Amino acid sequence: MKILDGKALACKLEIHIQEEVRELNKNFIYPTLAVILVGDDPASASYVKMKSKACERVGMNTLTFAMPSETREERLLEKIAKLNEDEKIDGILVQLPLPKHINTSKILAAICPQKDVDGFHALNVGRATLGFECFIPATPLGVMHLLSEYEINLRGKDCVVVGASNIVGKPLATLLLNAGATVSVCHIDTKDVSLYTKMADIVFVGVGKPNLITADMIKEGAIVVDIGINRLENGKLVGDVDFENVAPKCSFITPVPGGVGPMTIATLLQNTLQSAKTKLKR
Ligand code: GUN
Repeated sequence: MKILDGKALACKLEIHIQEEVRELNKNFIYPTLAVILVGDDPASASYVKMKSKACERVGMNTLTFAMPSETREERLLEKIAKLNEDEKIDGILVQLPLPKHINTSKILAAICPQKDVDGFHALNVGRATLGFECFIPATPLGVMHLLSEYEINLRGKDCVVVGASNIVGKPLATLLLNAGATVSVCHIDTKDVSLYTKMADIVFVGVGKPNLITADMIKEGAIVVDIGINRLENGKLVGDVDFENVAPKCSFITPVPGGVGPMTIATLLQNTLQSAKTKLKR
């Protein structure tokens, strides 16, 4: 069994990004990410902090706009409109989930697709489906980078994605399909998830349930990619996979922490860099 070391790869990518940022700085381009955080969800606040710290590590500018949970939708739309127009801003990220009174689709649709470093705008989702160049959501793209680093070829592989969210499951399934895999997507209404996981060469899971994937659900030699992040009552951070019992059956497996999480952050930086680089062509 080999560990898919996301932490190591993310470090490597960050060094490369830092070098590219320095090169852009020589051309008076200063990559800048704007992050909007609405409300006081502690998990969201902690993710936002990790993202801005990562920006600082690679020399990118980051602006965080913290807004109270009772912020009205119009106010948020105004903020996005301003950031869309601001030449200095290369990427705009609205941390999800948003408070219930705000229409998430409307907010995501308001972000200029050329600054949508999260890849959540319908235009980017559509372009990703067609295999065109676009911003791709950080978590699924991070997963693809990680597989590629370990030379895991997806063509013809039987893959199952457990979890069908717009942020992770659906875009990941699209990327896998475009890479030549045969893809099943399981979700909350799937009758028997194990029917799919038992057959799969590669299992991806990101639903937020500790120990959802147990050893009996995995075929010998399979690859397991754990995208879940859960904090247990004792403070321990775990994924959705019963790592201890599943790992011995796997050819490759991601740890939590240190697997997909760091890759998500590194990929967000890459997307922001990609956006800033378009200024070179102007
Ligand atoms: N909430 C959980 N994951 C993400 C993400 O990748 N981007 C944003 N904007 N919000 C999230």
